[in-house]
Amino acid sequence: MAHKHRSLSAREQLLEPGYGVDRRALLGGGLALGLPLLLPRALRAGQGDAGVRPLRVGLVGCGGRGTGAAWQAMHAEAGGVVLWAMGDVFADRLESSRSYLEGALSEEGNSARMDVPEERRFTGFDSFRAVIDSGVDIVLLTAIPAFRPAHITYAVEKGCHVFCEKPMAVDVPGLRRVEAAAARAKEKGLSLVSGYCWRYNTRHRELFQRVHSGAIGDLQAVYTNYYAGPLGTRPRQEGWSDTEWILRNWHHFRWLSGDHLAEQAIHSVDKQSWAFADRAPLRAIAVGGCQTRKGTEKGDTFDHFAVVYEYEGGARAFCNARQWPNSYGENNDFLYGSKGRAIIENWAPHHAIETYGGERWVYDGEGNDMYQQELDELVASIRAGKPVNDGMWMCRSNLLGILGREAAYTGRAITWEEILNSERKLGPPGMEDGVLEFGALAHSFDEPVPGEYKLL
Ligand SMILES: NC(=O)c1ccc[n+]([C@@H]2O[C@H](COP(=O)([O-])OP(=O)(O)OC[C@H]3O[C@@H](n4cnc5c(N)ncnc54)[C@H](O)[C@@H]3O)[C@@H](O)[C@H]2O)c1
Repeated sequence: MAHKHRSLSAREQLLEPGYGVDRRALLGGGLALGLPLLLPRALRAGQGDAGVRPLRVGLVGCGGRGTGAAWQAMHAEAGGVVLWAMGDVFADRLESSRSYLEGALSEEGNSARMDVPEERRFTGFDSFRAVIDSGVDIVLLTAIPAFRPAHITYAVEKGCHVFCEKPMAVDVPGLRRVEAAAARAKEKGLSLVSGYCWRYNTRHRELFQRVHSGAIGDLQAVYTNYYAGPLGTRPRQEGWSDTEWILRNWHHFRWLSGDHLAEQAIHSVDKQSWAFADRAPLRAIAVGGCQTRKGTEKGDTFDHFAVVYEYEGGARAFCNARQWPNSYGENNDFLYGSKGRAIIENWAPHHAIETYGGERWVYDGEGNDMYQQELDELVASIRAGKPVNDGMWMCRSNLLGILGREAAYTGRAITWEEILNSERKLGPPGMEDGVLEFGALAHSFDEPVPGEYKLL
């Protein structure tokens, strides 16, 4: 059995995560192009094949997705990649990931792809710095979202190529830092690949390319949905500080996850943005709330959102997302144009375009493993010395998620201009550096109340 199949399946990773400058010029207008100023260490290590040492990969955040990404990095098509260092805030999470990877590699006879001795296993909030400073060329940033701006900023500062999971930030000030780091990565000739995995799916790429070439005419409406079940909770255990308990239930605290529109259904929002060629909308209006979660681990997030994004020219996008038990499940996208429609059944998988005149196109190619593709393309770009940078559109999609969330929290119509100027920082002081203390931590169990909550 090829061990690629032992990694978490795409469905497991997506649906069951968890256990198992000038601001306008940046966020609004795209990243400045820059010529490489410095030769990053990973280019020195990665370019050319024979006689060059393998690319060293560091993993920050050894949960479900991080373990999958590490596996995929070690199996990148271009080869010559070794897992070199691992970091997690918790020792048990690091250990379960490490032992899983070690066992699976050993079974397929590829143990040499992992070289993570005890001195390169780091725990605690500072572990990201230790991993990045251990001499890695590529870092996989797969910890929980709130820490990503600090992690990305440090990785780029230290000259690492980056794979970063979505979302990249939970608030707009954090997203500005990510965008600045992405621009800096471009200047330094570093690759930056995002975890918006559907953009790495060959079926989706083919369909979106057809849509952008006019197959359905002018885009008038997009409807995306993410009707999922609830995510797991971890009851407090003896000896757990507030910090540990909240971190282990991070999905349900909005300052850590950004809430599920920005964290989980952000994939749907990203495809909506892709359909609109990453054009900014004019504004968003939304409803949302929390009806089904109970108990203290429920935190302070919503369990449902319905957002309408309005675009110039009258086009609209509708995103429905919720995490309810015993309810209908679907994760599909529908694009309606002046000449026809595109239908994407993400997990079927089924990709079709139908014109109103009766023509029909259905994707009948092979398809790919989009999670593997992300790491294949990252490693190939380094080997070829042709850096890739997802910065502009990944920040745009992230901001759309925050916009929809804030529209639901406030109950107001929020313009793109207003969200660009938001100064609300989620989380306690210390988040800028990515380091918190274990101990007492103030926390909320109150969801925002529309009409009362203010956009800051
Ligand atoms: N693209 C996808 O399809 C996909 C799928 C699943 C998850 N994700 C994303 O990946 C990220 C991780 O999700 P997951 O499902 O693996 O969650 P998880 O809870 O399984 O793993 C997160 C890990 O990060 C660790 N961690 C938390 N704070 C840390 C810090 N400051 N420094 C180092 N480690 C820290 C946790 O201890 C945990 O081991 C999230 O942003 C999530 O949205 C993406």
